[in-house]
Amino acid sequence: MDIGIDKIGFYTPNVYVDMEKLAEVRGVDPAKYTIGIGQEKMSIAPLHHDSVSLAANAALSILDDEDREKIDFVLFGSESGVDHSKSGAVWVHNLAGIQQNARCVELKQACYGATAGIKMAMGHIALNPDSKVLVLGADIAKYGLNTGGEPTQGAGAVAMVLSQNPRILSLDNDSASMTKDISDFWRPLYSDYAFVDGKFSNEAYLGFLKEVFDNYKEKTGRNLSDFEAMCFHLPYTKMGKKAILALTEDLDESETKRLMDSYHDSIYYNKQVGNVYTGSLYLSLLSLLEQAPEFKAGSRIGLFSYGSGAVGEFFSGIVKPDYKKYLNKDAHESVLDDRRELSIEEYEATLEKALPKDGSDIAIDDEQVNLGKAYLSGIKENVRLYSVK
Ligand code: CAA
Repeated sequence: MDIGIDKIGFYTPNVYVDMEKLAEVRGVDPAKYTIGIGQEKMSIAPLHHDSVSLAANAALSILDDEDREKIDFVLFGSESGVDHSKSGAVWVHNLAGIQQNARCVELKQACYGATAGIKMAMGHIALNPDSKVLVLGADIAKYGLNTGGEPTQGAGAVAMVLSQNPRILSLDNDSASMTKDISDFWRPLYSDYAFVDGKFSNEAYLGFLKEVFDNYKEKTGRNLSDFEAMCFHLPYTKMGKKAILALTEDLDESETKRLMDSYHDSIYYNKQVGNVYTGSLYLSLLSLLEQAPEFKAGSRIGLFSYGSGAVGEFFSGIVKPDYKKYLNKDAHESVLDDRRELSIEEYEATLEKALPKDGSDIAIDDEQVNLGKAYLSGIKENVRLYSVK
């Protein structure tokens, strides 16, 4: 059965910080952030946005009434979930107006969560061919002010509708995955900020990539020349360049150049948003599909998902005829272009602003913020209150 991505959209908050200005204030050469790390802008989430509202906005940007009727499974990948018990999927299900006879769950394994959702969605559709599944990857990446990870923060969400006979990307059923218990990046329950062993996390990412890609090649008989382009989990966009160099180190330069050409299209959105953890790989896929010249139908795209801690998976998909018709490049460019730049003082205040942790009520009222369609309006008696415009 042909199963894959039928629709894909994203949302990011409408405020950002400029990386060159952040570098100057931190006493760092701006080229370190823009070239060494590869980030130009970083989306920042105001108090009105959490992983649920970001995901709801991404979902609302792609769903129509037929989707709302046919979706019977909502899978919410996140590592910045808002409740230890209730899944973000239940809130999004309601905010997006999806029919009631559906299952909703949240999936956690660092940045791998949305990929786990895709794999579960494929199995569900294989058993229930008329179903549609909504897969979400939504996160706010926070390391804190003046930390090593500070230039690799971000906020946003990707929403995808998976179905049989998809119009954008068919997903191959063969893939290779790997799990190892390591401490490269994690976030203890008490902390708003992630902990990371930065250099080790880079090494672990590349080590996983090489091992799962070797395994994928062995299982499928395919090799690099079978791929028109590659998309990677992008904690920062330079990581994708490191990934291509790691995969092509024993090959001639033409192979590296071929993959590097599409790499620039695959990082266009991510370098303006920053790390969105679970959504990063899929934001890169969206960027590639919307920004690169149209691939021939049948072109194969490689996808590497990495969730610290760690789980990695290499899988692949094949672009469908006329897939560009079903994307929304203009709307996505507007989401990025219509954002407001924060001064460094505003960025610092916004990043450190937190919801009450002592059970007290709050009504969030920030007129400065363009909220998107769905937003968190407050907390009352420990219940989060979301609104949809
Ligand atoms: N001009 C151009 N380039 C410069 C420069 C300049 N003036 N100054 C430095 N650079 C380059 C460096 O040469 C280096 O390049 P390479 O990585 O290619 O060697 C790059 O800029 C970064 O410099 P440093 O290594 O000195 O930077 P750092 O010590 O500040 O750490 C970091 C960078 C490890 C990414 C850190 O920001 C961090 O810990 N980020 C969070 C963790 C992370 O994103 N890990 C990625 C893998 S884990 C994962 O993928 C899961 C996830 O989402 C978190």
